[in-house]
Amino acid sequence: MEKDVLILAIESSCDETAAAVVRNGREVLSNVISSQIALHTLYGGVVPEIASRKHIEKINQVIQEALDEAGVTLQDLDAIGVTYGPGLVGALLVGVAEAKAIAYAAGLPLVGVHHIEGHVSANYIENKELEPPFLCLIVSGGHTHLVLVKEYGVYEIIGRTHDDAAGEAYDKVARAIGLGYPGGPKIDKLSKEGNPKAIAFPRAQIEGAPFDFSFSGVKSAVLNYLNGCAMKNEEINRADVAASFQQAVVDVLVEKTIAAAKEYKMERIAIAGGVASNSALRAAMEAACAKHNLQFYHPSPGLCTDNAAMIGAAAYYEYQKGVRSGLDLNAVPNLKIGER
Ligand code: KG4
Ligand code: ZN
Repeated sequence: MEKDVLILAIESSCDETAAAVVRNGREVLSNVISSQIALHTLYGGVVPEIASRKHIEKINQVIQEALDEAGVTLQDLDAIGVTYGPGLVGALLVGVAEAKAIAYAAGLPLVGVHHIEGHVSANYIENKELEPPFLCLIVSGGHTHLVLVKEYGVYEIIGRTHDDAAGEAYDKVARAIGLGYPGGPKIDKLSKEGNPKAIAFPRAQIEGAPFDFSFSGVKSAVLNYLNGCAMKNEEINRADVAASFQQAVVDVLVEKTIAAAKEYKMERIAIAGGVASNSALRAAMEAACAKHNLQFYHPSPGLCTDNAAMIGAAAYYEYQKGVRSGLDLNAVPNLKIGER
């Protein structure tokens, strides 16, 4: 039996201050999240300065809770994992500085983690049998990518968005129909009361790039539709707009993912990122995978949105490969997937 590897993971890239203790990459001993959503709702989106300040206020308490809940002390740990990009630079810096201080004080190795690779790794936590290679659709607030996960920590991007990320489109459309921030979960909920076929919004295809995405067109189509209704003094059925928009986005996400799985001969499909918690996307992907005889994996909704357990999962596989970050680790706001 190999020795257990216990990692304390820290995540502060956006508006959640989070810490978790993860054993051997897949077993979550604690997963503490302090959300700032209520604070930012007032401004209709994340205010970077407020996010950084709140992270500083909360991070020590969140880490202590994660250690206490897991029933461990710093002496029991094997490494510290921390998100160092991409994200808001000031927010990232809080987690990175904290992780470096703990690593230095406790004499522990430090492993810098890519936030999006963390999202992908969330799939390992509840799907103990899932191993690379597989195809992963990453849909978050800032990213929309189709990636081949070739080995642990080895990614090949085969598709990406040319403009808005899927989550960004959800948030913008939600704002336009007056649902407020964060828009994704609100559109998800309201869509259940609407008719997804009520309005035909466009499904963008990009010539010569079958696995790339574009969501600015559907977003503009929704805005045009709303303007048109306003000019004609027609009442808007917000549930129908939400459901029709969501259907357009989900159709494209599912269709391209299945086509990519066929093209790259992948039998396993996973989804990751905040939008992966969307109920319509999960249902549609599940049905499409069943139809095409593909295995479908997904984290539970709470592990799709930002958390530190996923960072612990990703850190474990990097740690096992011998990856170590120096105490000069810096926040990299525009870090690319697969970069170190
Ligand atoms: O992955 P995430 O928590 O943070 C980033 O790394 O960006 O993703 C946040 C995004 C937001 O745009 C949010 O509106 C969207 O995920 N989101 C959803 C749902 N829950 C969160 N979008 C659609 N349906 C949901 N249920
Ligand atoms: Zn995220």
